[in-house]
Amino acid sequence: MSAAYILVLYYSRHGATAEMARHIARGIEQAGLEARLRTVPAISAECEAVAPAIPEEGATYASLDDLKRCAGLALGSPTRFGNMAAPLKYFLDGTSSLWLTGELVGKPAGVFTSTASLHGGQETTLLSMLLPLLHHGMLVTGLPYSESALLETQGGGTPYGPSHHAGADGKRALDAHEIALCRALGLRLARTAQRLESGHHG
Ligand SMILES: Cc1cc2nc3c(=O)[nH]c(=O)nc-3n(C[C@H](O)[C@H](O)[C@H](O)COP(=O)(O)O)c2cc1C
Repeated sequence: MSAAYILVLYYSRHGATAEMARHIARGIEQAGLEARLRTVPAISAECEAVAPAIPEEGATYASLDDLKRCAGLALGSPTRFGNMAAPLKYFLDGTSSLWLTGELVGKPAGVFTSTASLHGGQETTLLSMLLPLLHHGMLVTGLPYSESALLETQGGGTPYGPSHHAGADGKRALDAHEIALCRALGLRLARTAQRLESGHHG
């Protein structure tokens, strides 16, 4: 059997959400677990273009098996009109087979997002991203206020999950508080997965 991993599954058009994913991965690795970074393809209508099955750069596309076998999940999306991006929703809408067999029940999960404007829907996006995960029976891990960055941040960061204010031009880099909260989510997911696993066998 392969070693336990946390799946960091995200969509990112311009790289901000992808950068968050990399910081979350470092938090997961800090706990000694593998972070498996996967993305989803952009979607197009039947009459539009078809892209190669393997992306030219960055993370490879997630399979249902990546999701089925993970010990925990970090799910990330840019905010689009206060909600998750369609490509990620499209992927989630294809997970009925895992729902039918209850494959994700009891696994820890967290969510993260990036926006152009500071008050442009980070919290609504994060909360709406939790809904399908709750339908799958996953255990939601937000961020506790014992993470001091939550109180100190002048940028992103919410108790529902890490967030990033990328600015109107998308060029604002993650600041120290936003990075700390990404790492905290990764660490929290990995440690929760480890505890659940040891409880399962103990
Ligand atoms: C269709 C569309 C809708 C968007 N809606 C919002 C929004 O509601 N609030 C906001 O602050 N930014 C919005 N944005 C901006 C993105 O959330 C922002 O640029 C994000 O950082 C992009 O992440 P990425 O670099 O991972 O692609 C929208 C962008 C697009 C293309």
